Amino acid sequence: MSVRVEAGTVLFREGDPGDCAWFLERGEVEVSVERHGRTVALCRKGGGELFGEMAIVDGRRRSATVTTTTDCELIAVTRGQLLARLDGADPVLRLTLSLLIERLRSTVEQVQGVTASGDGGERAATACAAARLEAAAAIRLERELEQALTEGQFELHFQPIVALGSGRVRGLEALARWRHPERGLLPPSAFLPAAEANGFIRRIDAWAMAEACAASRKFQRAAGREPAPYVSVNVSAPALTDPAFLDRVAGSVRTAELAPGALQVEVTETSLIGADLGGVLAGCRALGVAVALDDFGTGYSSLSYLHRFPIDTLKLDRSFLCDALAGEAPPLLRGILRLAGDLGLPVVAEGIERSDQSSLLAELGAVYGQGFHFSKPVPAAEAEAMVERSPGYSPPSPALCRGPPLVS
Ligand code: CMP
Ligand code: MG
Repeated sequence: MSVRVEAGTVLFREGDPGDCAWFLERGEVEVSVERHGRTVALCRKGGGELFGEMAIVDGRRRSATVTTTTDCELIAVTRGQLLARLDGADPVLRLTLSLLIERLRSTVEQVQGVTASGDGGERAATACAAARLEAAAAIRLERELEQALTEGQFELHFQPIVALGSGRVRGLEALARWRHPERGLLPPSAFLPAAEANGFIRRIDAWAMAEACAASRKFQRAAGREPAPYVSVNVSAPALTDPAFLDRVAGSVRTAELAPGALQVEVTETSLIGADLGGVLAGCRALGVAVALDDFGTGYSSLSYLHRFPIDTLKLDRSFLCDALAGEAPPLLRGILRLAGDLGLPVVAEGIERSDQSSLLAELGAVYGQGFHFSKPVPAAEAEAMVERSPGYSPPSPALCRGPPLVS
């Protein structure tokens, strides 16, 4: 909501503590500092500009006084709003911002004839040094990721998804690993968050999709039976919203000559929030690619997703499963499994570590399971051998399979 302020109002004075920035919707303000008893104007800001952001970003006092020169309409931007955006930002972007702010501050300090000193100055310098280090690490990582992709340091490992009743391998989830030349084999948690922040994730996802399709083709040959196990690939939110995504999937499926049902994409609830992905997911189905809702039971579980999006399988998150099975009765788990059954959605229970968990889940209606109890993720050659050894697979009752028989 905007606030109206008359011309000539001092919005805040140099040295005041700051708890919000201001977006100037309409009007004009003057930014000034006091020097030897005289007011020195630094600049004027007009409609569409932001001011008062510096004190928020690094917790120092207002660097200047701001006075309205005409009647203004202002919108307060809270410290929380600004910091939430900064927290999620790429370190390189944060460094750029802190350098800009440092530059503005030094202009103000030159006009005032003082330099930053005392606690506030030191704190800001330390924060800036930390930001530089973080940004340098991010830049180095980006270069290393590029090199990793061109030199083939990424690998896909595969974890079987098994039918709880028979223990047969129904599918394999492809999980990225980075064989780092100095740090050894790295899990996704060591590089995917950074790759998401700098946008590199799209390239890793494109590589993983092509690689998973090629692996799926090999598994189909190794299985020598129908239906052969499918390969399930995790797709990040930035990759899903990429306009080239469907074409890329279609290309990978075509190149590997995959049969319908040989590929599944895993999307998280979080990536569905606020994004209009119905068309993309329907496009996957049209290509014969199934869609699994990953990490179900965490975050923003909204049952409306199950209706709004063409989803073929639910993957019940491991943390949720551990919590549920630690308690006496797992009513929420029962509820979810009953609901999935009513909707005809097969459930893959993730994170199964013991046989008692496996049998309880089967009793409660989960059709498939994944976890260390069956196998940890293994390199492609081992996964192929596992597929060869796994006996023929019979689909569960048709009531558990909705839509086209992609994952039946
Ligand atoms: P803040 O330090 O929170 O409060 C005073 C505001 O004036 C500051 O944020 C900036 O928005 C603005 N400001 C200070 N110095 C300059 C400058 N040299 N040029 C433009 N804007 C400035
Ligand atoms: Mg997954």
